[in-house]
Amino acid sequence: MAFPAQFLDELRARCSLPEVVGRRVQLRKKGREWEGLCPFHKEKTPSFTVNDEKGFYHCFGCGEHGGVFDFVMKTDGLSFPETVERLATDAGMQVPQDTPEERHRAERRSSLQDVCEAACVWFERNLYMPEGKAALDYLHIRGLSDENIKYFRLGFAPNGRNMLKAAMARDNVPENLLVETGMLIQPPDDRGEGQRDPYDRFRGRVMFPIMDRRGQVIAFGGRILGDGEPKYLNSPETPIFHKGNVLYGLNYALPSAHKSGQMIVTEGYMDVIALNVAGFENAVAPLGTALTEGHLSALWRVVKEPVLCFDGDNAGQRAATRAAERALPELKSGYGIRFAELPQGEDPDTLVRSKGRQVMQGVLDAALPLSEVLWRMESGGSTPRTPEKRAALQQALGAHANRIQDPTVRGHFLKAFKDRIWQGGNTGGGSRGGSGQYKKSRYGAQNKDFQSITGVDHRAKQTDSTTRSLKLLLLGLIAHPSFYDQVGERLGSLDFSNLGRELDNLRQQVLKALAVESGLDYRGLAHHLNGAGYADALEALQNDQDLGDVFFVRTDALPAAALCGWEEAYGLLQGKDLDFEIREAERLLAEDPTTENFQRLQSLKRQEFEASAIPLADV
Ligand code: UTP
Ligand code: MN
Repeated sequence: MAFPAQFLDELRARCSLPEVVGRRVQLRKKGREWEGLCPFHKEKTPSFTVNDEKGFYHCFGCGEHGGVFDFVMKTDGLSFPETVERLATDAGMQVPQDTPEERHRAERRSSLQDVCEAACVWFERNLYMPEGKAALDYLHIRGLSDENIKYFRLGFAPNGRNMLKAAMARDNVPENLLVETGMLIQPPDDRGEGQRDPYDRFRGRVMFPIMDRRGQVIAFGGRILGDGEPKYLNSPETPIFHKGNVLYGLNYALPSAHKSGQMIVTEGYMDVIALNVAGFENAVAPLGTALTEGHLSALWRVVKEPVLCFDGDNAGQRAATRAAERALPELKSGYGIRFAELPQGEDPDTLVRSKGRQVMQGVLDAALPLSEVLWRMESGGSTPRTPEKRAALQQALGAHANRIQDPTVRGHFLKAFKDRIWQGGNTGGGSRGGSGQYKKSRYGAQNKDFQSITGVDHRAKQTDSTTRSLKLLLLGLIAHPSFYDQVGERLGSLDFSNLGRELDNLRQQVLKALAVESGLDYRGLAHHLNGAGYADALEALQNDQDLGDVFFVRTDALPAAALCGWEEAYGLLQGKDLDFEIREAERLLAEDPTTENFQRLQSLKRQEFEASAIPLADV
């Protein structure tokens, strides 16, 4: 089971670390800390310290480091949950268990589902009663067969305030549960006249049951017959229905999505159904809301790259943009979204019914990865000519990429964007289409040779990215000697040993020259390097084909933008965002307290400790 974070915090606070450690190790108070012989390695003089305030122990001899849970896990050989139980017992705390309230809630959920099921059966039956004729005709006109109707369990809610209510009363369905599921509306007692009678929410509407992933009915959407407002009415949020997590059609889509590894996300009920009818069984839709994080994680649990297929109108485009923005922070290695572009004025339902399966398949096959959509959104489909505009484009794309929390994916996005800008106008589809593409089509021309966000690099040329980054960083400083104060030290600490003596020496020479003569500009530095016998090395570096056309190593790049470029390239090389990784690991652990997750967090924390402890130890 997962332990609530709050419980773990409290348990940690209640345990005295010196006391727990003291059962195994003889500790002596020394200043603010405690000291003793390390239990993790053999030693004669104490290098093991315990800091009660900060809640961790650390051995300067062997590097063991951790908090109270690690200590017990390691010295007693217990798993994380066992450790928690042991410490909780010692501290007189109750480990959270399934409470009677939780059990009661589970029972209630199933009775709410029974109510929805009963309503669904009744709606279905109505469709084939005389009062449902108009609704049935409507569905037939929209291209659905009786078989389709039965499969999706479509129904009809007759027009009247007490139709469902009376039918359910006959079946002894408790009225309060009908209110709780949102099938009946309970008017508020706002006039102080006492409780008024509840009445049917859905009146005179075609009913679409919304099911959970197992096919249990949990809510409904009701469409008006013909024109009128609102076109669709949905169940409210209830204990069993949370719009932000539920995808319409998921229960139908799961088998084929699992099998094909693909999932189509549309905007509406009818899109899902029409796609199913045409043989695309792997279609789902959010319920009149924007795609949420909850939806994304539900999708990613099934497939790696769901395809968003939103309406070919302005609203659909906005929805797609919003979805892209929502998805960015959530991206994980190997998981992304793609965007299929529908012709103006079409939705998946109209397109597949008017143009057929092949055309629809073509639209899906042409879906673009998120990185490409962002690129086209910001660039309009081509790389700007001037360095200023390139810098601005890089900044805009960098801002998108920096919202990605996963450091690996973020690095790939930054790199892909930068590579593309650095490559200037030489890239494929994006620039061939010319500028103004974005106005004509939503995402500009199609371009399949661009690196997809899954990190699969489709381009032929693959250089060792570390080597390339190191060369660029050196070249960046040579082009902009004024950066020396900000970047010199970091450039000096990088490991150039794999790049050969010549480049390593060149770097040393550059750093030395700039340390001695602070006012050097590029020409002055180049002159100095040539005079010192580095003419060939410099020329080779400047003409290195693997580097491509990178803006920040150009001497004419705007200094502020170039420095940003340098910093980003450096950050990319460092690769890691420890802080974020720690937060992520903590979250994972709270969700899933396995020993493995625990150890991962510990190892990250140790890295952090070491990074911060080195200067401290020197003082
Ligand atoms: P659309 O307006 O695109 O409807 O809304 P549609 O799916 O094409 O419907 P048809 O083809 O005219 O029948 C897309 C989705 O937005 C939600 C519904 O879930 C709908 O399927 N919606 C729309 C509402 O919740 N309320 C509304 O009033 C309209
Ligand atoms: Mn439609």
